[in-house]
Parts: sequence; structure tokens; C-alpha cells
Amino acid sequence: MNEVMETYILPDIKDLHKLDVYEANGGYKALRKALGMKPEEVTDEVKKSNLRGRGGACFPTGLKWTFMPKQTTKPKYLCVNGDESEPGTFKDRQIFELNPHLLLEGTVIACYAMGITTAYLYIRGEYGKWIRMMEKALADAYAKGYVGEKILGSEFTTNVVIHKGAGAYICGEESSLMNSIEGERGYPRVKPPFPAQNGLWGCPTTINNVETISNVPLIINNGWERYSKIGAPKHPGPILVGVSGHVNKPGVYEMPTGVPLLEIIHKYAQGIPGNKAIKAVIPGGSSTMILRGDQLEGAKMDADSMKAAGSSVGTAGMIVMDEDTDLIKVITRISKFYYHESCGQCTPCREGTGWLWKVLKRFENNDARREDIDLLMDVANNIEGNTICALGDAAAWPVQSMIRRFRDEFEKRVKVAEPRMLADASA
Ligand SMILES: Cc1cc2nc3c(=O)[nH]c(=O)nc-3n(C[C@H](O)[C@H](O)[C@H](O)COP(=O)(O)O)c2cc1C
Repeated sequence: MNEVMETYILPDIKDLHKLDVYEANGGYKALRKALGMKPEEVTDEVKKSNLRGRGGACFPTGLKWTFMPKQTTKPKYLCVNGDESEPGTFKDRQIFELNPHLLLEGTVIACYAMGITTAYLYIRGEYGKWIRMMEKALADAYAKGYVGEKILGSEFTTNVVIHKGAGAYICGEESSLMNSIEGERGYPRVKPPFPAQNGLWGCPTTINNVETISNVPLIINNGWERYSKIGAPKHPGPILVGVSGHVNKPGVYEMPTGVPLLEIIHKYAQGIPGNKAIKAVIPGGSSTMILRGDQLEGAKMDADSMKAAGSSVGTAGMIVMDEDTDLIKVITRISKFYYHESCGQCTPCREGTGWLWKVLKRFENNDARREDIDLLMDVANNIEGNTICALGDAAAWPVQSMIRRFRDEFEKRVKVAEPRMLADASA
């Protein structure tokens, strides 16, 4: 097998999106291998590999799979989450475009491991081009017997359905995603019950990100031991890092986990235009806590390192901002997004996101009062942890971290009262 196919999600192979090219480079070999194993052995491989979810929370994938009941009379479902709507995140679309069969192969292996007979591939509605590319790849995979009835002559049958997203960030939240697939409004559900017990149509369901599932064939081909040596031991594997903002070469880069953020900025994305200093970095999509430029030394793109640095890996969508960036404008824009995308179900989020945005507008317009800084923090603190889903946290964390790490930026925008004479005593 082509070695790059074993260690990369997006190996540099021309026309890899075409089934014959994928096959010629060892594609669907992992599926054949997995079908020769017991389903629980496949789950065990994924568990031992230490693969952690690439959808934002870094949750251990193998552990999640073990939550699915083994004995049940109900159908079981897999939802592959390709809603990808968080600002700063643009990596899953690269998989749809450059290596769609890796995703399909991973999807079928995941279904086999968990005894699932239907998988939904939920793709952001605005991704028309990538939906069409996935539909073509899926049709080819069906025609060759990699998906559908008695896959590769085995007793295993599973179907994959491509579902167009409903055009809202909230539909990427796993329980809203299930409501959306069911044809309901994309409202998050109260947990517990968790999806593994009560998911799609009340049946056991696992939700995994597109990139997470694309790692599965690599684990099966390499074996867990070899795979787990790629990158950071506690959060291993290749990772797609999207770099945007003030860098010379913005784009998606594949690397092992654990690469220093400064190396990603300077070596991969080729530094800051005009050699300016880095003022701030949002490391993993707009919901992750902002880091000051002087906090980047030693910070690496893996869960433990990012936690120690005071943020998180999230979706590994880095937004880099140079010394001239108006961070108040940045945080006001981010808050507007969360206000717009709040589904309105929970009062702290529905009302709080609006207040965050309104108060931030005062700072943007140099019209804020000094006490507005504490007011912002108070509103953010009252959203965090008080909502059904994590959109509330996603709205609160950027504001909290921006105030903690860049308080001076807020203080500079406080309106200073002009001296005013109340009575003229000169006469
Ligand atoms: C508001 C919101 C939006 C989300 N959007 C996405 C998304 O677009 N894609 C994604 O994979 N996960 C998204 N998530 C996380 C999912 O709820 C879920 O944790 C993830 O799909 C699990 O996949 P993983 O374990 O493979 O990381 C979102 C979460 C929230 C709270």
C-alpha cells in the first residue's frame, strides 16, 4: 500500500477523489480488513488508538462507540457531522473534495463496528459543490459494493444517506442535527438521555465529525499501535489545521497533532505579512478562548498543550491577528454571529448573546462606560453553563477570554466625560 495513504487524510495523490485512483492506492483495503475482524475488535482498535474527536470537544472516539448498546431490538444510526459552520473552520470540505472515499470507507467501518445499518452524512446546506462531489463518490461506492447490501460479499449491509444541512450553525450541534434530519426545527435536545440511548427517532445513535471518521481507515490499516505513534501520544493522529487571518499563506494544512502553534504560523502559513508582531490567535474556531501573542511560546496543537496554554484545540481553525488588529471590532463581530445563530430556546443564550453584542457595540463606537467591562463579564458568566447546548458557552468564552487577556483594549474605548462648567464664578 502507498505509505502516504496510511498516514495522511489528504495525501498528495492526483485525482484521489476518483474511485479507481483511490483503489489503486490501497483504498478500501481497511474495509476488507475490518470485515475480517469481529465488530468489537474494530471498536477496540479505535479505542486503543486514542483517536479523539475532531468536531470540537476532543472526545475519545472509541469510548463513544462503546456507549452504543449491543443488545437492542431498535435500529442504530450513525450521523457523520459535516455541518462545518463555525467561523474560522473550513477543513471538512477538503475531505469531501480531495478524499471522499476515505470518509465513506471510515463511515462503513464505523457502522460495522457498532452494528449500524444506516448512516447519515449531514453536509452543510451551503456546500452545494461538495454535496454533489460526495453524491458522486457515494454512487460509485454503491456500484462497486463498498456500501449497500452484503458489502464485499460479507453478511454486512449498511446504507449511507447524504442529508443537506438546514443552513444554521446550531444544526451542527449533535442533538439539533438529529432533529434536523428528522425534519424538525434544529433545536438542541435536553441531555440526558444521550444519543447512544435515545438518538435519531428515539434509537441508539452515534454522532462523529467528518475528519474523525476519516481517521478510522488509517487506524485499521496501521493498527492502533502504529497509528498512536503519530503526533501527541494522548491525542494522536494527523490533524487538519485551517489557518486564516494575517498570515502569508492562509489555508488548510495537514500535520501530526502536537505541532507548535508558532511553527504552524511561521513554517506552514509562512509568517505574518510585513513581518508584523502577532497580537492574538484564536486557536480552534471562533468559540475557543483567544490567546495573546506572548502566550504562544510552547503552545502546541493537541488537547493537553492547548489546555495548559489556556484555550482548546476545538476544530483547529486558527485565526491569526497581527499587531494592528482592532480586537474590539473582532469580538463585536464574533458576538454578532452567536447572537444571530442562537436558536432562542434558552433564555440566558437568547437574551444574553443579544446583550453581549449590544454592549460590545458601545465599545466599538467608543461610547462605553467603565462599568460596561464588568457588565459584559457578568452577562457572559450568566450564559456559560446555563444552556441546553454548548452554543451558550461558545458565545461566552471568546468574550470572557478577550476581557481577561485584553482588558486594556476595552479600557481604551471607555468614553471619558469632557470637563463641564456648571456655574461660571469668574465674574
Ligand atoms: C453550536 C454547535 C455547533 C456545532 N457544529 C459542529 C459542526 O459543524 N461539526 C461537528 O463535527 N461538530 C459540531 N459541533 C459538535 C457536535 O455537537 C459533536 O460534539 C461532534 O459532531 C462530535 O464529533 P466528534 O466526537 O467526532 O468530535 C457543534 C457543537 C455546537 C454546540
